[in-house]
Amino acid sequence: MPIPRRGRGTLLMAAVTGAVVTATIAVTGTANAATTLGASAAQTGRYFGAAIAAGRLGDSTYTRILNTEFNSVTPENEMKWDATEPSQGRFTYTNGDRILNQGLSNGSKVRGHALLWHNQEPGWAQSMSGTALRNAAINHVTQVATHYRGKIYAWDVVNEAFADGSSGGRRDSNLQRTGNDWIEAAFRAARAADPAAKLCYNDYNTDGVNAKSTGVYNMVRDFKSRGVPIDCVGFQSHLGTGIPGDYQANLQRFAALGVDVQITELDVAQGGNQANIYATVTRACLAVSRCTGITVWGIRDSDSWRTGENPLLFDNSGNKKAAYTSVLNALNAGGTTNPTTPPVTTPPVTTPPVTTPPVTTPPPSGAGCTATVSLNTWTGGYVATVRVTAGATALNGWTVTVPLPSGDVVTGAWSSTNSATTGNVAFRNVDYNGQVAAGASTEFGFQANGAGPSATPVCQAG
Ligand code: G3I
Repeated sequence: MPIPRRGRGTLLMAAVTGAVVTATIAVTGTANAATTLGASAAQTGRYFGAAIAAGRLGDSTYTRILNTEFNSVTPENEMKWDATEPSQGRFTYTNGDRILNQGLSNGSKVRGHALLWHNQEPGWAQSMSGTALRNAAINHVTQVATHYRGKIYAWDVVNEAFADGSSGGRRDSNLQRTGNDWIEAAFRAARAADPAAKLCYNDYNTDGVNAKSTGVYNMVRDFKSRGVPIDCVGFQSHLGTGIPGDYQANLQRFAALGVDVQITELDVAQGGNQANIYATVTRACLAVSRCTGITVWGIRDSDSWRTGENPLLFDNSGNKKAAYTSVLNALNAGGTTNPTTPPVTTPPVTTPPVTTPPVTTPPPSGAGCTATVSLNTWTGGYVATVRVTAGATALNGWTVTVPLPSGDVVTGAWSSTNSATTGNVAFRNVDYNGQVAAGASTEFGFQANGAGPSATPVCQAG
């Protein structure tokens, strides 16, 4: 939820008086309004980028806007597998290098996109499977990440590997059929080839809390717990005429896992709400300290892959649209300060979230369930992750009641619905996580203002 103006002022005072505990929650003022997207985002330690195409770099209107407004670039197609390895073992970097050099010469970050994706596989890879494909894919990751070693801010190591819909599972593809561990193998190869780059998982339709984003969330949590190198999650945010109400809470729950989050391919269908939706996305990123930047998927409407939807910040002639102004104003209004990470660090450091020991209910003697709560706190707020564990009998629905101290207010929840926002708040399962096998666990979470629960949560089956 965006920090309201009054809240910003309060936090600023707290920062000045030294009351803010974590460095990541300091808040900038609004005195020096910047006049470009990149400069304005930089005021809070973030970037504002665009996807660009090598074929358009000869267009002077395009490059004028690019060089003036943006301080990060992503190649729209030029670093994909079909572009960089058109035949097996023959690597072509001409257009990828043009994007890289355009970005570096302008002092911009460069986001690498994308090392492995089931789409835009070169033809030779499309017809492969099994060990041969796995080896070819990992070799591709190693070769391309090595070519760009030390120059890429963040790589989309794997793109769009989760299925749409309610399964929360992986998308079928020839890569997936090489074994469920193909994603972690790719991340390990990327880390070995370029230890300085942040390594991201990137997907679409993960912009709110839903089964797909929860599938990704569970993978990231698993990777973090097993030491698989992952530093960031990209939320593409190809939006229509609406935006999920839990957009910010979704970013926050990923950030609470100890990864950066980035808005990687933002575009919004033109309609009555376009400017508002752009501003809402911008404010959400600014409110999450680990949201390191925003990339729009193209510059002018005429550059967009969404022909006829006019989803970008500049019109066909390169004029600024209302959506541009709303983004700039939102950036200039400030937000949490992102802990800036130098583009080249070896190895990249990820900061674990601040956690407090879990508050536990006694283990169930038979049927029923238990709940434990872990908190990621900051001054004035927290994200709670609640683990629900079934007893000796499988659960077919559950409710966890969390007693909140006076003054605590729930501002968003995921993987559950809450009955109230204050006091004894009952969180009920949603359709995809109500059934839990005997002894197994599921998780939900919520974000709240306040100090956090200290009393024991109560889990009830049914
Ligand atoms: O360059 C050829 C051109 O020579 C040929 O005449 C023409 C005929 O169709 O095709 C041109 O290539 C097209 C390419 O874009 C460059 O314009 C491809 O057909 C077309 O498939 C390709 O589309 C790209 C799409 O990914 C492919 O899936 C879009 O530009 C690109 O914006 C889009 O980006 C993806 C992200 O990578 C991942 N997330 C979703 C996003 C939108 O689909």
